[in-house]
Amino acid sequence: MIERLRFPVNDADLAALAELLWDAVDSGASISFVEPFSRADAAHYWEKWIAQVEADPRRAILVARDELGITGSVQLHPAWAPNQPHRADVAKLLVHRRARKQGVGAALMLAVETAARDAGLSLLTLDTKVGDHAERLYERLGWTRAGVIPNFAQNPDRSYCDTVYFWKWIERRQD
Ligand SMILES: CC(C)(COP(=O)(O)OP(=O)(O)OC[C@H]1O[C@@H](n2cnc3c(N)ncnc32)[C@H](O)[C@@H]1OP(=O)(O)O)[C@@H](O)C(=O)NCCC(=O)NCCS
Repeated sequence: MIERLRFPVNDADLAALAELLWDAVDSGASISFVEPFSRADAAHYWEKWIAQVEADPRRAILVARDELGITGSVQLHPAWAPNQPHRADVAKLLVHRRARKQGVGAALMLAVETAARDAGLSLLTLDTKVGDHAERLYERLGWTRAGVIPNFAQNPDRSYCDTVYFWKWIERRQD
């Protein structure tokens, strides 16, 4: 099941989100953070972001759930610039290792597209590490590669990695 994270976020969901982010960093994902990275660091990140998303109804955090709780998440951040009212960044697609390779990542990406369409957006952009599962996932879902920036970011072990930017036009919902 995929749904929009509801506010205020309860303690169980906050703990699950922290575990999800910690698990992704522990799995070697290049998603902003480097080791050492604790579950408390992950909880701090979520507390900060949840407050920002809660304060801006244009932003959204979508979560996937199974019987144990949250297994994945993705975020939609509409551009702040007045001359980009049609664009949003898709950020931090995360699926817990216990739930990977079952289509949860693809389902979250399709759900965030639907949320963007419903919000009247037509251009989505994102970036990811070259060579990761996510790169193949985005290509499979019809995203277009804009290009690669070498040494753009670091892996959790602080080695450098290349980043690929993607974009996707989506049709606005016709009311
Ligand atoms: C990238 C990520 C979100 C993908 O999540 P996921 O739920 O495993 O994604 P999917 O299941 O939709 O697809 C992943 C793979 O599983 C395969 N798969 C999907 N359903 C499957 C099934 N039922 N049986 C077997 N394989 C399956 C897909 O074909 C895909 O294969 P590929 O990597 O060889 O192309 C996950 O690996 C992750 O969280 N990584 C760490 C964080 C990260 O790097 N995020 C990207 C930041 S931009």
